[in-house]
Amino acid sequence: MRGRGDAPRPGSPATTTTHEGTRTLQSDLTTRGTPVGERYGDRLFNGAGGEELARLTALAQAFDPATRHRLGALGIRPGWRCLDVGAGPGSITGWLAERTGDGGEVLAVDRDTRFLEPLRQQGVGVLRADLLDPATDPGLFDLIHARFVVMHIRERGQVLRRLASWLRPGGLLVVGDNADLGTPGSPHERYRTTMAALWLALEQAIGTDVDHGRRLPAALAAAGLVDIGAAVDIPPIGPGTPMSRFWRLTLAQARPLVVATGLADHADVDAVEAYLEAPDTWDLSLGLVTAWGRRPARSRAGAPAAGDCWSTADAARQTTGDGREAPGGESPPGASRGLGGPSARQEAPHSAIACTLPLTCCATQPSPEPDGELVRT
Ligand SMILES: C[S@@+](CC[C@H](N)C(=O)[O-])C[C@H]1O[C@@H](n2cnc3c(N)ncnc32)[C@H](O)[C@@H]1O
Repeated sequence: MRGRGDAPRPGSPATTTTHEGTRTLQSDLTTRGTPVGERYGDRLFNGAGGEELARLTALAQAFDPATRHRLGALGIRPGWRCLDVGAGPGSITGWLAERTGDGGEVLAVDRDTRFLEPLRQQGVGVLRADLLDPATDPGLFDLIHARFVVMHIRERGQVLRRLASWLRPGGLLVVGDNADLGTPGSPHERYRTTMAALWLALEQAIGTDVDHGRRLPAALAAAGLVDIGAAVDIPPIGPGTPMSRFWRLTLAQARPLVVATGLADHADVDAVEAYLEAPDTWDLSLGLVTAWGRRPARSRAGAPAAGDCWSTADAARQTTGDGREAPGGESPPGASRGLGGPSARQEAPHSAIACTLPLTCCATQPSPEPDGELVRT
């Protein structure tokens, strides 16, 4: 099934492409009655086969060292109120809880919290909620982190604006998503072709933009954030690596959709599984683009900063011009859920921040230091 040319890039409107495989998949989806707007976890990656925790654990093992480094360099510290969005297996959530200490507060939100429940014993708040649900309003945070989540949600811009609106003034939004930097240059043709089929299948099935990481810094700026920066990490596939394990488990679940694209057949997927398991395979796959931005510390005359998207509850908590909250704001949802720790109504631990480490420098030269210097003013 190879040799039909490149797959349409993810993000291209499926209805306008003339690619044969795309038409076949759309037709199949229509005739199979796949609900329009199917989402991550509805059918694909819903854990029905019992391997979803192993798949997400492999993903976490591959990328947690990079994420911890990036978050550490951005200056996460004790006492912060943090939100881990689409927390999955909760490995970064647990790390955030350790880093913020007893005086801090960490909340994990996911539409599927089955793997997060054990974190409650660490004092972590666990909220089962959909990011797109208007009723989801967890309060305000010093740090919001979302890895491999936004790329899987069709309404990406809307979600980023929501996340930005949940930041305290001066708070950080750190979002990690894929950029397909590794597979197009692979010397293994069937690996190239099958992975292109996988991207197309994910786009068609659940709306994934597998190159969203490339667009993240601009998207954070469009959401009204400042001090934008980004960095890229690409863990290799190779014998015994978590990345190889992750792709084997992913292909096992997505195989029917991959084959349905018409870009790859079962023999191709078999060959790629063998490639992933071979003792001499070393190759690249996805890059994790970690991008970050800060909510402006001060808004003019108490108005939301440009690009801010304020929820109803946020409007009730609207700040005065100097970053303090206006009187009469309502209690934050986080406080009413008994999450403990500082409430969003209390003064933020760094309601105004000066950063002595120019964060944008990290985009090209990540700090080797575990912590950047954040100074309260
Ligand atoms: C690929 S996993 C990433 C897990 C984790 N962030 C990590 O990097 O290890 C994507 C997670 O996002 C969650 N998710 C996807 N769409 C969501 C939505 N609309 N609202 C809340 N969670 C969502 C899924 O349930 C899943 O746990």
